This record gives sequence, structure tokens and C-alpha cells, in this order.
Amino acid sequence: MLTIAQITDLHVTTTADPLNQMRNEQRLRQVLRAIHELKPRPVAIIASGDLVDHGEPAEYEALKAILADTDIPIYYAVGNHDRRAPFLEAFGGPFAPVDENGLVQYAVVFEGLRMVVCDTLEEGRDRSGFDQVRAAWLNRTLDADRTTPTIVVMHHPPILSGVRWMDPEPDAPWIGLLAEVLRGRENLRGVLCGHVHRAFQGMLGGQLIATAPASSIQVTLNLTPVDMERPDGREILTAEPPGYVLVMADEGRVTTHVCVAGEFEPAVAYTRPFGFT
Ligand SMILES: [Fe+2]
Repeated sequence: MLTIAQITDLHVTTTADPLNQMRNEQRLRQVLRAIHELKPRPVAIIASGDLVDHGEPAEYEALKAILADTDIPIYYAVGNHDRRAPFLEAFGGPFAPVDENGLVQYAVVFEGLRMVVCDTLEEGRDRSGFDQVRAAWLNRTLDADRTTPTIVVMHHPPILSGVRWMDPEPDAPWIGLLAEVLRGRENLRGVLCGHVHRAFQGMLGGQLIATAPASSIQVTLNLTPVDMERPDGREILTAEPPGYVLVMADEGRVTTHVCVAGEFEPAVAYTRPFGFT
């Protein structure tokens, strides 16, 4: 059995934005602490995009400093708040390889689990940049191994959360494109995403799509209609605790846990046999 932790939407920034700098760093450190205390310790961490808030070189340097104490290998994906050039300047290499088009996408094989990381960033826009070129890459990469249990990681989820201001158009062409790539793949165990700063699950192309909570602040769960042109003063982000996802792979079975990071008192100890019957 092995585990991999997914962290997402770190939004690390600099003292130019003191509130977010302090809050997002403190929350990320809390998540990293929780992951390091897990037993067994995850073999890797995947950081699934929005690593920093504005794609600035100084922010990637700040992120590097925060991650310096982490002794679990960290792989990276990019999100809509990232910019590839400064990201690669700071993190380029074996944990963030680029493909022939300069996109941050690659496959890694752990013992009994393959992770395919897909780049959905379209620089300067919030929406997903998944297109024909990336669909062809993902098809090819998934075709290369149709037996090892596999997870796909991408920043933008192709399903609706119901929080309308964060969601894609339900009939956006990229979603149909991705559904065709995912359909019929028996060794695919799920697509893990971030972006919405909340954990939710749904299906696309017959596959499980699951998002992770942010290590930074969360999106407020409000499923009522919203006028995208007229701000109505509603709360849109909330200081709910930071979280992460733990992926467990055990002889081909893959399970994801949605976890809350924090200091929690033990509640009950194991002092009498469970006595399974
Ligand atoms: Fe984000």
C-alpha cells in the first residue's frame, strides 16, 4: 500500500499583500505539518496548481522557502494563477517536466500507481485551457499504459460544483473533449483537481472526478443563483480550515480521503480488541 498527498490552491504571495501572505503561508504550513505526521508517510505530494497568487517570481521564491523543510518529494501542476516562465525558473526539473509544447505535463510511476499530470493553464485567463493539443497528449499518454492503475491530475475540474461564479459553462467544448479521452479507460481510477477551493465529486466520461479543498482559504458553499454582473455583497470566500486529499493505492484499489488540517485532540483510544467477526 502506498499513499500520495494532493495539496492545491496554495496562493502563496509576498508581503505586498500582507493578509494573504500571512494567512496562506500559515495555512500551507499547517497542511504540510499534517501530511508529515501521517502514518505511513506519503511517498509523494502533488501540488495541483495555483501555487502562487499572481505568478510573480518573488512569490515562487517565497513558496520555495516555505517548502524547504519538506522532505517528501513534491510534484507540481500549474493553475490559472500561475505563469509558466517564472514557475519553471524556480521549480523546473524532474518534479515539473515540460512536454514538447512547453506545457507542464508528464507521467510518473510509483509502485503500483501511475500519475498523469495535465496542464490546463491558459495564461491570463481563469478558464481551462484544455484543447485539442492537450487532449491528444493526454490520449497518447494514457494509451501508453492501459494496465497500471492510474490517476490524472489537472487544476480545472470538468464538473460543476454548483457555486456558479467558480464553475465552467456546462457545455464548454473542453469538457466534451476531455470526456472522450477519459471514456472506456478501465485502469483509470479518477481525475483529481483543484481550482474551486472545495472538495466535491462527480462523474465525467464514466470516470470519477474529485476536487481537493485548498490549503489557502475555501470558497463559500452557496448554491443560489448569482448575477455575474451585479455584486450583491454575499460572502464568497470563507476561513474554513485548510485541507488536502490523501490518495491510497492498494493492489489496484485506489481510494481518496478528503482531510482537514489542524491540531485535534485524540478522542478515544484503542484499549479493547475490535473483535472482527
Ligand atoms: Fe485557486
